[in-house]
Order: sequence, then C-alpha cells, then structure tokens
Amino acid sequence: MFRYAAFVLLLAFGCVIHLSCGTEVTVQDKDDKLCLYANLSVNFSVSYVTSGNKSELAEFELPAEVVSNGSKCDAASSTLQLNFGAGHSWSMNFSVSGNTYQADSITFSYNLSDATVFPKSASTDTLSVTVRPHITDIGMDTCYSCKSKETIQSDSVNQTLWNVLIQAFVSNGTHSENLTTCAADLPATPTASPTTAAPVTNTTAATLAPTTSPAPTLPTPATGKFSVKPDNNGTACLLANFALRIGVKQGEKHQEMNLDPNVTRASGSCGVNSSELVLASTDMTVVLTFTNGTKKFRLQSVNVTAKLTSGVIFSEANSSLSLWEAAVGSSYMCNKEQNYTITSQLNIFTFNLQVQPFAVKKGLFSTAEECFLDSDLSFLVPIAVGVALSFLIVLVLLSYLIGRRKSRTGYQSV
Ligand SMILES: *[C@@H]1O[C@H](CO)[C@@H](O)[C@H](O)[C@H]1NC(C)=O
Ligand SMILES: *[C@@H]1O[C@H](CO)[C@@H](O)[C@H](O)[C@H]1NC(C)=O
Ligand SMILES: *[C@@H]1O[C@H](CO)[C@@H](O)[C@H](O)[C@H]1NC(C)=O
Ligand SMILES: *[C@@H]1O[C@H](CO)[C@@H](O)[C@H](O)[C@H]1NC(C)=O
Ligand SMILES: *[C@@H]1O[C@H](CO)[C@@H](O)[C@H](O)[C@H]1NC(C)=O
Ligand SMILES: *[C@@H]1O[C@H](CO)[C@@H](O)[C@H](O)[C@H]1NC(C)=O
Ligand SMILES: *[C@@H]1O[C@H](CO)[C@@H](O)[C@H](O)[C@H]1NC(C)=O
Ligand SMILES: *[C@@H]1O[C@H](CO)[C@@H](O)[C@H](O)[C@H]1NC(C)=O
Ligand SMILES: *[C@@H]1O[C@H](CO)[C@@H](O)[C@H](O)[C@H]1NC(C)=O
Ligand SMILES: *[C@@H]1O[C@H](CO)[C@@H](O)[C@H](O)[C@H]1NC(C)=O
Ligand SMILES: *[C@@H]1O[C@H](CO)[C@@H](O)[C@H](O)[C@H]1NC(C)=O
Ligand SMILES: *[C@@H]1O[C@H](CO)[C@@H](O)[C@H](O)[C@H]1NC(C)=O
Repeated sequence: MFRYAAFVLLLAFGCVIHLSCGTEVTVQDKDDKLCLYANLSVNFSVSYVTSGNKSELAEFELPAEVVSNGSKCDAASSTLQLNFGAGHSWSMNFSVSGNTYQADSITFSYNLSDATVFPKSASTDTLSVTVRPHITDIGMDTCYSCKSKETIQSDSVNQTLWNVLIQAFVSNGTHSENLTTCAADLPATPTASPTTAAPVTNTTAATLAPTTSPAPTLPTPATGKFSVKPDNNGTACLLANFALRIGVKQGEKHQEMNLDPNVTRASGSCGVNSSELVLASTDMTVVLTFTNGTKKFRLQSVNVTAKLTSGVIFSEANSSLSLWEAAVGSSYMCNKEQNYTITSQLNIFTFNLQVQPFAVKKGLFSTAEECFLDSDLSFLVPIAVGVALSFLIVLVLLSYLIGRRKSRTGYQSV
C-alpha cells in the first residue's frame, strides 16, 4: 500500500517538474458525446534551411494547449486534429477493421514563417509530412496505451511519441478502462503469440504493473514438423523437423524470438539442384535454401525477416553458407542445441534438428547422418588426445634413453 502511494506521489512530482503531462484532448460527436479521447506527448525535430543556406534543426514539443478544430468521428473512421502555434497542425487518422481499429496515418504540417520556431528560415511555406505509425490491432472499446517512445522518421522530420493513451470510436460516452498495450511496453514477449493483437488488460492492472522488468529468458522453442509437397499434393519431397530461435542484434539491443510452429505455415519447392523451405509465422518469415552438390547436400542460404517488438522490420540473409551437410539420399540430424552465426546481426539456434531436402522416399526420412556433437563417438575426443599425449611422452622418453646410451657408448669408445 505504501509503495503504491509512493509511486503515485512520484508520478505527480514528475509531472510538476516537467510542467506538462502531455496533451489531453477530447472530441465530441454530433450528439455532443465523447467519441475520441487522446492524451499524448510528441517531440518534433525538424530540419530546415536558413537564409544563409545552412541546415538547422528545430526541436520542439507538442504544447499542452491545442485546438482540436477539424477533428471528427464517424462510425468507421475518425480524425484527431491538433492545431497549435502559428499555423502548425498534427493529425492522426483512425479506421475500424473488424473488431479492432488502427491509426492509418499521421500528418504533421509546419509553418516555416513562424520565426519563433524556425528562426531565419529561408522558406516561408507551410510543409507537411505524412507517416504511418505502428499503432495497429487495437481492440474495439479499448484504449491504446504506449508509455515507451516511438520515433517515426521521415525525410526532414522526426517525431517521437510517448505516454500515448488514445481511444478512437468511444461507444458509451467515457473512455474505456481496458487497454491495448503496445509491444514495446510489454516485458519482452516470450514467443510468437498466436494472435497479432496485443493483450488487452485493464487500467488498474496496467498502472500497478512494474514499468521495468528484466527480460525473461525464452523457453526452449517447440519442435515443428515441416514439409514441402509438390503442388501441395501427394507425398512430401522435403522434410524438416526442428525447433528454431533467432537472435537479432540491432546496435546495442539484442532480441531473441522463437518460431512458434503452431502458427507457422511451411511452403517451398523441390528441385534437382536446389530446394527451398519457406516458414511463414505471424512475426517472422524464414527461407532456407538447400543445394545438391552431386554427392552431398548443404544449407546454402538463410534469409530471416522478422517484426521486432519495437515494430522495426528486420531482414538479414546470407547465401554463402555450408551448413547441415550430408549425403544426398540421407538426412542430416543434430539433436543438441546449435548456435549458427548467419550474419553479424543474426544468429539462429536449432534444437532437435532433422532435415532432408532431397531424395525423400515415401514421405519419410532416410538414414540420418548425425552431427558430431550428437554422435556417440564424441566422448572419444578427450581419450584420443590423452592417448596421443602419452604416446608423445613415451616417444620423448625413448629418444632420451637412446640418446644417453649412444653418448655413453661414444664416451667409452674414446
Ligand atoms: C522532448 O523535448 C524536450 C525539450 O525539447 C526534452 O526536454 C525532452 O527530453 C524530450 N523528450 C523526449 C522523449 O525526447
Ligand atoms: C545551397 O547549398 C547547396 C548544397 O549544400 C547548393 O547545392 C545550393 O546551390 C546552395 N544554394 C544557394 C542559393 O547558395
Ligand atoms: C504562418 O506564420 C506566419 C507568421 O507567424 C503567419 O502570419 C501565417 O498566418 C501563418 N500561416 C498559417 C497558414 O497559419
Ligand atoms: C532523425 O533521426 C535520425 C536517426 O537518429 C537522424 O540521423 C536524423 O538526423 C534525424 N533527423 C532529424 C530531422 O532530426
Ligand atoms: C473490459 O474487458 C472485459 C473483458 O474483456 C469486459 O468484460 C469489460 O466489460 C471491459 N470493460 C470495459 C469498461 O469495457
Ligand atoms: C481489472 O483487473 C483486475 C485484476 O486483474 C480485476 O480484478 C478487475 O475485475 C478488472 N476490471 C475489469 C473492468 O476488467
Ligand atoms: C493430386 O492428387 C490426386 C490424387 O492423388 C491426383 O488425382 C491429382 O491429379 C493430383 N493433382 C496434382 C496437381 O498433382
Ligand atoms: C501448439 O499446439 C499443441 C497442440 O495443438 C499444444 O499442445 C501446444 O501447447 C501448442 N503450443 C503453443 C506454443 O501454443
Ligand atoms: C543431385 O544432383 C545430381 C547431379 O547434379 C543429380 O544426378 C541427382 O539426381 C541430384 N539429386 C537429386 C535428389 O535431385
Ligand atoms: C543441375 O546442375 C547440373 C550441373 O551443374 C546441370 O547440368 C543441370 O542442368 C542442372 N539441372 C537443373 C534442373 O537446373
Ligand atoms: C530476404 O527475404 C525478403 C523477404 O522475402 C526479401 O525482401 C529480401 O530481398 C531477401 N534477401 C535476400 C538477400 O535474398
Ligand atoms: C552464439 O554465438 C554468438 C557468436 O558466436 C555469441 O555471441 C552468442 O553468445 C552465442 N549465444 C549462445 C546462446 O550461446
């Protein structure tokens, strides 16, 4: 109880210090009932050219005082328009799709004649940029909540949104207690959730939840059984059973994601010289290309495209690999966890792997060639090293003894 009190106090204190708790706006429909609610903070960073032909950066915040003229609500679409300062405006369009709604675009217009914001600007035009935010899959009758910062870049404007609480399509006159929380606010999502929509929680639960929690380690991914059937018909020509995790590095950030086989669709093609397996899941697509080098096959290329929790689309590929090599007509197997570096930004981890990209008979795996770590012989390595070492010692000892004997003989012969 005390801790909550302290927390609330801290929040209030924080607001006082910053003199602003964001911009709060309400929009009423024709019947004067609340139809759109928004409370958010936006920072703008705009680059413009001065009369001295120099590039300058103007940085400013969305003021707390705005005029919402131009905002409107309809059944399936609505607009939040915030006008501020000397002819600047910021607007967001929403639309309904099924039982969710989304923000389709943000349009920001800025008046370069406003010398207080853009001193010495060469141009006096009013420019505007339109960008697409990652604000989607908001449950109907829920508020979208995102405390984390989202920076949306465009040619000469960067907009950073944070502490966003928005509900478009308010139905019963007050904004909802239920939230759709953005992915960035959630503690690192463990696996690909089967639905794309962010979980819906309610305000009480959300405010009391700790804002920072350490990223939990991912559980071992589930093993999927994937196959490729020619013309989606008949028996499989490519078989692959494995569990997959990807590790993505983006600057200093590191994120790991598991492939959820339950929501993954396998497709691809089988050829004489090359076969392809495409695994499409809700948040990632993995393309594996195998080549047939007459006697042996190998995994030659890996291409991973993933939507990270930050909303960024990540894509990395390497097509000069030589992994998972085995004889054509057999399968490759590796049960132990394997860590493969694909590119400097992408690692893949496999578990319980068995794959056969060529010459599959009756839809079943042929005999497996196991990776070295799996093989029963791997325990022999230390023994072999020991044997070799002892052999060396014996050899050294022998040559020493022989040498001594020789020199003694030489000495005696004098
Ligand atoms: C927004 O801008 C203000 C002043 O321009 C700055 O103090 C604040 O740190 C900025 N916030 C973010 C999240 O960038
Ligand atoms: C302004 O600078 C750009 C390059 O920075 C140059 O191409 C352009 O000619 C300059 N314009 C004037 C009016 O000096
Ligand atoms: C742009 O700013 C100038 C100077 O503040 C003002 O006179 C003008 O009316 C503004 N333009 C618009 C479209 O509001
Ligand atoms: C926007 O952000 C990017 C990356 O931080 C930066 O390189 C660019 O200069 C920024 N642009 C503006 C107009 O602030
Ligand atoms: C919040 O969601 C729960 C379950 O989804 C629902 O029963 C409840 O009516 C919702 N509350 C509001 C205020 O919409
Ligand atoms: C909000 O969550 C709390 C705790 O999880 C629950 O007790 C309460 O019934 C929920 N309220 C609504 C409106 O769903
Ligand atoms: C699919 O399989 C059925 C029966 O096994 C066969 O009659 C049909 O021709 C096949 N279609 C294609 C496109 O291979
Ligand atoms: C996948 O589906 C199986 C059976 O349908 C179920 O037992 C398992 O829990 C599911 N796994 C995940 C991660 O949803
Ligand atoms: C692999 O390639 C060789 C020659 O390039 C070919 O003879 C053989 O049939 C191919 N194997 C399969 C399974 O396609
Ligand atoms: C497979 O590769 C062999 C040798 O490189 C070539 O002769 C043959 O035409 C290729 N087959 C196909 C179907 O591309
Ligand atoms: C990887 O796959 C993505 C999506 O299918 C594609 O856009 C990209 O060009 C591929 N990269 C390479 C190097 O093939
Ligand atoms: C996987 O390998 C990379 C580079 O080889 C290394 O940085 C990383 O720590 C390894 N990850 C695990 C879980 O072993």
